[in-house]
Amino acid sequence: MKRKRALVTGSAGFIGSTLSERLLREGYEVYGIDAFVHNYDRRLKEQNLQGLLTNPQFHFWERDLRCLDFDELLSRVDVVFHQAALPGVRTSWGAQFQEYVDHNILVTQALLEAAKHSHVQKIVCASSSSVYGGMSGPTDETVTPQPVSPYGVTKLAAEQLGQLYANVFGVPVVSLRYFTVFGPRQRPDMAFHKFIKNVLSGEPIDIYGDGEQSRDFTFIDDAVTANLLAATSPVAGEVFNIGGVSQLTVNEVIALLETHTGKTALLRRLPEQPGDPRHTFADISKARQQLGYDPQFDIEKGIWLQIQQVRSLYNL
Ligand code: UGA
Repeated sequence: MKRKRALVTGSAGFIGSTLSERLLREGYEVYGIDAFVHNYDRRLKEQNLQGLLTNPQFHFWERDLRCLDFDELLSRVDVVFHQAALPGVRTSWGAQFQEYVDHNILVTQALLEAAKHSHVQKIVCASSSSVYGGMSGPTDETVTPQPVSPYGVTKLAAEQLGQLYANVFGVPVVSLRYFTVFGPRQRPDMAFHKFIKNVLSGEPIDIYGDGEQSRDFTFIDDAVTANLLAATSPVAGEVFNIGGVSQLTVNEVIALLETHTGKTALLRRLPEQPGDPRHTFADISKARQQLGYDPQFDIEKGIWLQIQQVRSLYNL
């Protein structure tokens, strides 16, 4: 049988590289693209790619999606996993916003334009819990989004462009609202990565606010599985919450890290950060029912795996 061909944008990133590996294991031929945008050390992204580059079914291009001919690219593939973005809620204020608009909105629009006249069977777009803003309890997709960061505004715009192209032109788009994904290869600006690295090396951890803010933490393998389910399901023109199985406060996360590393965390208290929602909490009923999404990884299992990876990454 002919292999399915997938395009993964952002394939050197945390989710994009893990997804690419999974697709190869599932028998796909994978076209990976990454611009190595400057949000963190290029060497970490190169490491993410290491295992992929030796696989003959993986084809990698270092290209900036802002100036790419999507028509030519889409003619080569059956499905697209659009993971590329400029991420991060707290860094999206001020002059940086222009870059968020370019990477997150304009690139998505160019991809959707090209998809209008392509034969691509599904486009799975990475969206974000940050489209909602704060949540006071389990939150489903019927709740009106009210982002509290400029980043959330760009992800919401990208998602709505997806809905628009699905409704008007029948482009088969599905957007996945990831909830704070963690696990091996997590971005170095994200909480778990920073916390684990600093606990292991005896450096202080920055805590924003009182640490009582909570997140619905989603393990990377569950987020990757959600992408495969979305790609193979007949559903299109929909958005889905992709949450995990654990809601924890930042203080609870630190206590768990202390238990699992056997070290005491040094804490540095900083003010609450503009752009941070107080709580996130995914109601994942829709993804369960329509995609068969069933997250498996609890926080303990996931944290343990991430501790092993951060240890080996920094020789700690
Ligand atoms: C994460 C990603 O960074 C976003 O790209 C993504 O869109 C978003 O999840 C999402 O759910 O869609 P965030 O929840 O802020 O955003 O993830 P972390 O950076 O891991 O932060 C988690 C919590 O730890 C936040 O409450 C934050 O205030 C806190 N934190 C983070 C600290 O107290 N100190 C730090 O040094 C970093």
